[in-house]
Amino acid sequence: MGNIGSYEEKYKNFEWQLSVKELEYGKDGMYNLAYYCSERICEKGMADKTALIWEGFQGNKKKYTYNDIRLYSNAIAQFLLDNGIKPEERICLFMDRIPELYISFLGVLKMGGIVQPLFSAFGEEALFTRLEDASTCAIFTTMKHIRKVRKILHKLPDLKYIFVVDAGNKKLEKFEISFNMEKAQLNEKFDIYKAGPEFPSVLHYTSGTTGKPKGAMHVHSSLIAQHITAKWALDLTTDDIYWCTADPGWVTGTSYGIIGPWASGVTQVVLDSGFNTDKWYSFIERHKVTIWYTAPTAIRLLMKEGAGPVKAHDMSCLRHLISVGEPLNAEAVIWSQEVFKKPFHDSYWQTETGAIVITNFPGMTVKPGSMGTPFPGITAVVVDPKKFEPIETAGTVGLIALKPGWPSMFRTYWNNKKLYDEKFKNGWYICGDRASIDNEGYFWFMGRDDDVINTAGHLVGPFEIESALLEHPAVAESAAVGKPDPVNMEVVKAFIALKPGHEPNADLELDIMNFIRKKLSPLAMPQAIEFVSSLPKTRSGKIMRRMLRAKEWGEEIGDTSTLEND
Ligand code: PRX
Repeated sequence: MGNIGSYEEKYKNFEWQLSVKELEYGKDGMYNLAYYCSERICEKGMADKTALIWEGFQGNKKKYTYNDIRLYSNAIAQFLLDNGIKPEERICLFMDRIPELYISFLGVLKMGGIVQPLFSAFGEEALFTRLEDASTCAIFTTMKHIRKVRKILHKLPDLKYIFVVDAGNKKLEKFEISFNMEKAQLNEKFDIYKAGPEFPSVLHYTSGTTGKPKGAMHVHSSLIAQHITAKWALDLTTDDIYWCTADPGWVTGTSYGIIGPWASGVTQVVLDSGFNTDKWYSFIERHKVTIWYTAPTAIRLLMKEGAGPVKAHDMSCLRHLISVGEPLNAEAVIWSQEVFKKPFHDSYWQTETGAIVITNFPGMTVKPGSMGTPFPGITAVVVDPKKFEPIETAGTVGLIALKPGWPSMFRTYWNNKKLYDEKFKNGWYICGDRASIDNEGYFWFMGRDDDVINTAGHLVGPFEIESALLEHPAVAESAAVGKPDPVNMEVVKAFIALKPGHEPNADLELDIMNFIRKKLSPLAMPQAIEFVSSLPKTRSGKIMRRMLRAKEWGEEIGDTSTLEND
């Protein structure tokens, strides 16, 4: 079972072309990745195989075969064309983890649209910023989230259609159209858009230190990397039952929650419900999950409950465990070995890389606390932060850098080529993270090289939080930084200086919190506020978040001379 064993032999002879050959990618001029995730699997004789088993938070269940997802995604693609939507237009998916989210992702791609998934917990401001930036023309949503769309619609002249997948008989407003996937006219033969390999596919927004979130633009040939990494790093085979706990509002939930598994003909299970230890273990047991892809925050939450709940369930179905999104602490790996009898394998990548680039492969010796080694076909190094030259000395911390050219690499930031170009230095793509490499080539993550906050595996840009705070009438200036947290690794802390005439007190704190709650997603909400008389600044007036952060972490503040002269 699994691809383990053959790994080392394959590693030696690796070329991306292997994936192209396995997929027969480009056969008859077909490069559209949605074809490879549905039609092709049916053509290979797996039409009746289960593609998706879904469970809602109330315990309701649904099951879809590969033929079902083929037909439903065809219906969605046809529906979009019938509404006059054209290839390359941006279509947002703003839904909880319901089957329509997964299937419409393929539907949009099938008609040549650019799919823009957004996390359904986003508040209206976060939603607005991203829809405005992408000039999005249509959005799929549900009655639960439509209120947020209605509130910002008047500010979005390009947003022409709001497709509501669960409207039933409810009254809809202007621009809103009801679309019931399971009652839609089925279409046996949809003429899939002939996207070329470099044709835009998925637009994922990610936060940086400064400015608004930026849209990382991917293309259809990303599939080449997503398919082979799903096979070799996640070890997916057609016999597996696979559970990726990530939401498709984020890149893990699309690269490895839709594209990777479905292009491999895998049965995947989805639980549309928040975290709960017993629920999670029962879910694994009930569906006999064999491969589990999750995040360190969830693992830490499970650890907190100890071995007892694990023993109360039969977890022997699990054969491979992988983690992503945040540093996976050594204790979590050791704990997992103890309770599940297998270690969590770390995987490192980003929205921009589109696929796993560094990982502890199945079959490899896991060094707890290390992220593993580069995926074959990926040249990864650490470079010095001044000249951006590879550091040869083992154990020296530098910036993680990748040689451009892997298939799933983002092709630009939407409408922001300048920012994209800035990510490349001395011929390397600079990831923005710090790490060292040991003498066996294993990467050890140190931290981010910017002010972005990674809370529970989700990147939060301080700029968005500070902008929301600044709109409050009492706030003069603010700085958002990460503060240590035993479960989420870090949570947001906001330092606030008040305008004259305002006194810091609990009522004002509550008022500020309520004010920004409407604007931000729950993830970005500060867990702590500290009122200060002023914020530390460089001579040019830039707030020194790094100093505030160092204090929170009890770290040396380090060299501030460059900041002072900034
Ligand atoms: O800082 C690194 C952290 O998450 C960032 C990428 O976040 P995002 O674009 O949202 O994609 C997340 C899922 C791929 C990285 O720059 N990160 C990701 N994986 C790891 C990690 N930090 C430590 N260890 C990891 N395995």
